[in-house]
Amino acid sequence: MRIENGTVVDHDAMGPDYRVLTLKLPEVAPLAKPGQFIHLRLAQLHDAVLRRPFSIYRIDGTHLSILYKTVGRGTASMQNLRLNDSASVVGPLGNGFPLNLAGSVTPILVAGGYGVAPLYFLAREMTRHGVLFIGGAKAADILLADEFRALGWDVQVATDDGSLGVKGLVTVALDAWLQASASHTQPEFFACGPNGMLKAVGDRAIRGNWKAWLSLDRHMGCGVGACLACVQKVRLSGQETLARVCKDGPIFEARDVIWED
Ligand SMILES: Cc1cc2nc3c(=O)[nH]c(=O)nc-3n(C[C@H](O)[C@H](O)[C@H](O)COP(=O)(O)OP(=O)(O)OC[C@H]3O[C@@H](n4cnc5c(N)ncnc54)[C@H](O)[C@@H]3O)c2cc1C
Ligand code: FES
Repeated sequence: MRIENGTVVDHDAMGPDYRVLTLKLPEVAPLAKPGQFIHLRLAQLHDAVLRRPFSIYRIDGTHLSILYKTVGRGTASMQNLRLNDSASVVGPLGNGFPLNLAGSVTPILVAGGYGVAPLYFLAREMTRHGVLFIGGAKAADILLADEFRALGWDVQVATDDGSLGVKGLVTVALDAWLQASASHTQPEFFACGPNGMLKAVGDRAIRGNWKAWLSLDRHMGCGVGACLACVQKVRLSGQETLARVCKDGPIFEARDVIWED
């Protein structure tokens, strides 16, 4: 983990609601693993002392990119970053996805909205191709489908309004695939998206006796394990306990997560 001032080298829109911000980070970028995140502070947001967490979407040499959606004050102010502006970064943070797959396993990635970002980094690092399921409210929320196809992945899309792919939740597409393929494949899931989606993927994995690695999204304070803003109830070695999503996660195996309504 490093603290580094990154320089903006690219900042482009991806559709109407998302942007990709690329920072030159010669110290942080080479250390990054799929599923890890950075904690970003914006110089122009003077009254906000807290950083904002973003999954690492791409690493290209010393360049690190994030893919973000504008939802509030911090992300709105990020939109104003211009080439050569600087932004303070702490990272890479968190544990990341496991990269070693057992011999017969088919990797199944499940993404909701910007959850596709860490899964793209993961797909680029995996030596084996599998299936990506992407869900979103509408066609404009389905990101990177062509990029995954270019890597050799099968891509299955679901939208709430039916404007692209299957109409309904991403689990509609996933369940259809499981029904057709589960008898002759051994899936292992890697998921990032809203809690409801993570729980649904985890439930299917537990029922099928497969593994599911879930990237939890929690509001964060310090990002390094000190403030306990991000705690999640988990089960470790049969004991209920609290884990810090920023430091012990953000990736947890489905059986370890205790969901509270
Ligand atoms: C490990 C991790 C990885 C993340 N990766 C990405 C990413 O790749 N791309 C991306 O766009 N966002 C990502 N997020 C979410 C991102 O951190 C928040 O959207 C951001 O902090 C919001 O800041 P803001 O100041 O714009 O919003 P605020 O003004 O702080 O809040 C605006 C609204 O967003 C909600 N919100 C704030 N933080 C979160 C959160 N963590 N989860 C859900 N809702 C939240 C608030 O409740 C509020 O309704 C990630 C979060 C975590 C914990
Ligand atoms: S954000 Fe402070 S302990 Fe996780």
